[in-house]
Amino acid sequence: MQYIEIAREKLNKLRDRDDFLILAFESSCDETACSVVKGRKVLASMISSQIEIHKRFGGVVPEIASRNHTLAIDSLLTETLDAAGVTLKDIDVVAVTYGAGLLGALLVGLCYAKALAYALDLPLIAVNHIKGHIASNYITHPDLNPPYIALIVSGGHTNIYEVQGFADKDMISLGQTRDDAIGESFDKVARILGLGYPGGPKVEKLAKQGNKEAFKFTRPFRNEDHLDFSFSGIKTAIANLVSNSKARGDEINAADLAASFQNSVVSYVVDNTIRAAKDKNLKTIVLAGGVAANSALREELTQAAQKEGMTVKLPEFEYCTDNAAMIGVAAYEEIKAGIEPSDLDLDADPSL
Ligand code: KG4
Ligand code: ZN
Repeated sequence: MQYIEIAREKLNKLRDRDDFLILAFESSCDETACSVVKGRKVLASMISSQIEIHKRFGGVVPEIASRNHTLAIDSLLTETLDAAGVTLKDIDVVAVTYGAGLLGALLVGLCYAKALAYALDLPLIAVNHIKGHIASNYITHPDLNPPYIALIVSGGHTNIYEVQGFADKDMISLGQTRDDAIGESFDKVARILGLGYPGGPKVEKLAKQGNKEAFKFTRPFRNEDHLDFSFSGIKTAIANLVSNSKARGDEINAADLAASFQNSVVSYVVDNTIRAAKDKNLKTIVLAGGVAANSALREELTQAAQKEGMTVKLPEFEYCTDNAAMIGVAAYEEIKAGIEPSDLDLDADPSL
């Protein structure tokens, strides 16, 4: 029998079970991650972060990221299996992020997962990174189920979805960024303010000491009837404020600037998300992605939703930024939703 036929047969036998083990990989950006999950339960989730390596370049260098994934992935697998208390023989499914992300980085996880799936005759499930972020909430809230509104905020995405189920056709895009992602704008503002990489947590920390009303920024698409975003204007406005004050020889208050920036982008995504939930008459909002670690966003979204009689589901901090547990749980949900296993010619899709 061909590999894909074996994979299909094995996967079909798992569909109505929830006690099988998924081994998941994530390598779309600068974290190499590996996890073992059983349903929505995480048995082990290990991350080898490259932050220290990329720090001195002020951002992720794609080629260096790929090389370091290659160096890390093998021993990370051993550590993850050990932490989960299982061996490769116990694994039923291999899952991997195949997009979106950096092409070279994605390929490391993808080739590794394919080789394992082929060698062990296991079904391979290709996971969309965004769906992984959404699934991070199923780890924290095992009783959560669609329908709900999902706000995904990361270094590569700013999206609002109406989620009616876990299959692609059941995730309806209601709004997205037309230029920078919100996390990217945090990273760029951090660079302008000389805070370094990764920018999000550094801007958040500095913002705590500033006055969020000190600077006002114009909100894009103010009176337009859609839920799309733009974040490139605010970054340019901040770059101009900083360079103009330097030219005048003034010292700009960086904490006030960080606080005002954060306040502006947080209220922007919160307002659009509440609008989406009202439009679709949905009472549950799910937050996901690296920027979901931002306390101001978590608090403001929760308060705004409460005012409207809605509930907000937040992922635990450890599952906000990239990890493989969310990829494993997304694969579990995909299997339940009827996904077919991938064949070995599966390719990475950087702009998925
Ligand atoms: O989901 P993630 O780990 O990777 C992508 O899929 O992009 O998100 C990383 C992004 C970065 O832009 C980072 O600056 C941002 O999430 N981030 C934050 C915070 N923690 C991470 N942004 C704002 N506040 C934070 N506390
Ligand atoms: Zn991510």
